[in-house]
Amino acid sequence: MNTSEDRKWIQEKLNIGNEMLYLTKDEVISTNINEKDILSLTRDALLAHGTKEFEMPAKIGVHPYEEVFFHAMPAYVPSKQAIGMKWIECYPFNPKKFNLPQTTGILSLNDVSSGCPIALMDSTWITAMRTPAVTALAAEALHPDAETFGMFGCGVQGKEHVKYIVHTLKKLKKIYVYDTREESMDNLIEEVQPLIDVEIVKGTSPEMVAKSCEVLSSATIILKEPIIAVKDEWVSKGQTILPCDLNTFWDPITSKRADKYIVDSIEEHELFNGMGYFPDGLPDIACETGEILAGNKKGRESKDDLIVCSNIGMAVCDVVVGREVFNRALKNNIGIKLGL
Ligand SMILES: NC(=O)c1ccc[n+]([C@@H]2O[C@H](COP(=O)([O-])OP(=O)(O)OC[C@H]3O[C@@H](n4cnc5c(N)ncnc54)[C@H](O)[C@@H]3O)[C@@H](O)[C@H]2O)c1
Repeated sequence: MNTSEDRKWIQEKLNIGNEMLYLTKDEVISTNINEKDILSLTRDALLAHGTKEFEMPAKIGVHPYEEVFFHAMPAYVPSKQAIGMKWIECYPFNPKKFNLPQTTGILSLNDVSSGCPIALMDSTWITAMRTPAVTALAAEALHPDAETFGMFGCGVQGKEHVKYIVHTLKKLKKIYVYDTREESMDNLIEEVQPLIDVEIVKGTSPEMVAKSCEVLSSATIILKEPIIAVKDEWVSKGQTILPCDLNTFWDPITSKRADKYIVDSIEEHELFNGMGYFPDGLPDIACETGEILAGNKKGRESKDDLIVCSNIGMAVCDVVVGREVFNRALKNNIGIKLGL
């Protein structure tokens, strides 16, 4: 669909310029976009990024407290008529302090032709889905034959990671999970095991999990100072590490000595480096995740390569998934229209 066809289609259901669609989290979920759809949409977003057919300035933010950030994440993906901005916060201590999620936010979308706002929606679910989709797609590109996967952090992201990874790593035989909170591991296993055929094993320590798995991911906490939960000596050649919490969980030495340090966005990682999130310096970056998916850069070149692929999250993924949520909601009369 080109831009004017897209506008015509929206206009049939929404009076562009006078109203926009508002979607709560439950309404976003009720559009019924399943894991395979999210993987496909996220792949499209990564391919657009990898072939430079996008516009996405690095996040800008405000920081009311140390270790806390609000980010404005605008993006435009022409092939999807997806334009908008996610406004998201990361408050690492929210779960303990307020029993609230670390990450919440909203996504606004616009009509490409006129620029008018067409939607405002909760972005918590979109973030919870597109992030593991990126990890799963990167894992598939970098380590498709892996039989073991390890997940550090069994919260919102950890659960979804385990659900998504089985779609792309088809040879998995075991998934190890680890969390400092025993009940988080138990909850993950109780909720996710009935949904997947691969056995989920409760890890007894970060060392045990790190040493047991070919592919590892972490979704724990993002802090400026690394907590080094996994010592470099526990990491070996041939492993693939896919953090979505920057460098916090891992020994900074691991990323520096990796055969390839790949990131979703160089600009974003440089930005976080500028904010002090890499106190030991940003490792040399080989290329971007999207470039590997697009086949423009090589991923794993030897079975012995140690690869770290850090995906901190890109607005191109949010606006592409968000646009599909909007399309389905509009078609199915989900949400309420608010006057502008
Ligand atoms: N890269 C991205 O695009 C992206 C998107 C969303 C969230 N995140 C990040 O992912 C992380 C997890 O987010 P979430 O929403 O799942 O949070 P959550 O609070 O739901 O889950 C985090 C889990 O990590 C566990 N944990 C904390 N420290 C740990 C440690 N040292 N060892 C093992 N487990 C530990 C906690 O007990 C908790 O169960 C956060 O840092 C968040 O900022 C990244």
